Amino acid sequence: MTDKKRFRPLWVSLHWLMALLVFVTFGIGLLSLAYKPNSDAKIIPLAVHMALGLVILLIVFARYLLRILIYQPPRRAALAPALTAKRVLFLDQLTPYVHPLLYLMTGLMALFGIAIALPADLFPTVFAYSGAPLPADFYIYPARAWHGTLSLVLLLLIVQHVLVAVFHQFIKGENYLGRMWFTKN
Ligand code: HEM
Ligand code: HEM
Repeated sequence: MTDKKRFRPLWVSLHWLMALLVFVTFGIGLLSLAYKPNSDAKIIPLAVHMALGLVILLIVFARYLLRILIYQPPRRAALAPALTAKRVLFLDQLTPYVHPLLYLMTGLMALFGIAIALPADLFPTVFAYSGAPLPADFYIYPARAWHGTLSLVLLLLIVQHVLVAVFHQFIKGENYLGRMWFTKN
């Protein structure tokens, strides 16, 4: 095992932790924040959403640095015929663009979240219980519309990502998920 391959488990663990946190943070955003009035009842879900969002930002940054500076997974063509080297589906042809966009959009989501929180003074309100009321509507901050719109873009990217994984793993019967697991390849 070369020195750099030691980092693979970290790269894999951070992928799944990031995926889990993105699903939870997204769910809280849609179910407990987006269509609810800005009352005090929103402070706890907002605190959890913001804290998880900040952790996601750190993970995306750490994973990106790890990916470009230290650990590069083996190229897909090198694994043929274990994995279809030719991308047969249009959806799969998008993968080389979708992977970097997943990093970018996830990071941007968190940054736009911070760009809502700062002018709205949310950090003292939700983390230090300063007692200040929430603004009547977050849409007075331009970053709110961006945060909502990019969440749809991120959702589409995740749908492509998951469909491609399901296609390779279950329809083509390849060990695609093994590419993001603790095995050697
Ligand atoms: C929901 C948030 C998710 C994000 C942000 C995300 C992000 C990424 C990124 C950026 C890559 C590119 C490789 C890298 O640079 O690390 C990747 C690879 C991969 N992801 Fe995800 N992922 C998510 C969820 C999932 C889910 C739910 C699955 C399983 C169904 C999955 C399965 C994979 C696999 C198998 C690879 C390796 C693909 C290859 O090497 O061609 N991911 N993911
Ligand atoms: C990658 C991380 C994040 C994801 C996936 C995410 C996702 C979401 C989603 C899906 C919504 C509802 C959007 C809508 O339907 O229009 C939302 C709302 C919101 N998010 Fe995030 N978010 C993230 C990070 C953050 C961060 C780091 C903060 C603040 C520090 C934040 C603050 C907010 C606020 C203030 C709202 C508006 C709630 C409202 O209008 O009542 N988010 N987020």
